[in-house]
Amino acid sequence: MMNEDVKKVLISEEEITERCKELGKKISEDYAGKNPIIIGLLKGSVPFMAELIKNITIDCELEFMAVSSYSGTESMGDVRINKDLDRSIKGCDVLIVEDIVETGKPLQKVKDLLYSKGAVSVKVVALLDKPDRRTVDIEAEYVGFTIPNEFVIGFGLDFNQKYRNLPYVGVLKEELYKE
Ligand code: IMP
Ligand code: MG
Repeated sequence: MMNEDVKKVLISEEEITERCKELGKKISEDYAGKNPIIIGLLKGSVPFMAELIKNITIDCELEFMAVSSYSGTESMGDVRINKDLDRSIKGCDVLIVEDIVETGKPLQKVKDLLYSKGAVSVKVVALLDKPDRRTVDIEAEYVGFTIPNEFVIGFGLDFNQKYRNLPYVGVLKEELYKE
């Protein structure tokens, strides 16, 4: 059943499950022989991370970070660390899990931060990529789906903290965020 605030389903639960299998396989191949630290950016990455790691077959560790840079539907420049890592990542291969890469600004900041903490490699896996909105020259190494410039919710993505629990990615009805 579709949520009444959703205009249309953009990516179904089945499509996400399938894509996570492919991404997990590719990541497991690329990191063969390594033990990457997989860092989920709270809170949007949680459903995607949970689905993705089922398909990662190499040894890895999970960590979480919370940074804030976003309110409502417009992206701002800066990030603040609300929850930092529980362990040192010095000398480690790090894979950041993101819900969506839009401007790329917060992601660039987090990447720089992780390198400054001594990571030897920092890559990014993102469920969604909205390349039309990019303002910083950064690309996720692994992308689930490239989407057009529409505000989306579900599978971790929120509007004012709501809808993260939807099992699909949908487009929010415009009248709910435009005056
Ligand atoms: P950006 O790279 O500056 O766009 O920042 C990325 C963050 O903005 C993501 O982690 C999301 O939390 C949020 N975001 C960007 N686009 C959307 C969207 O379409 N729906 C919900 N959140 C979004
Ligand atoms: Mg968010």
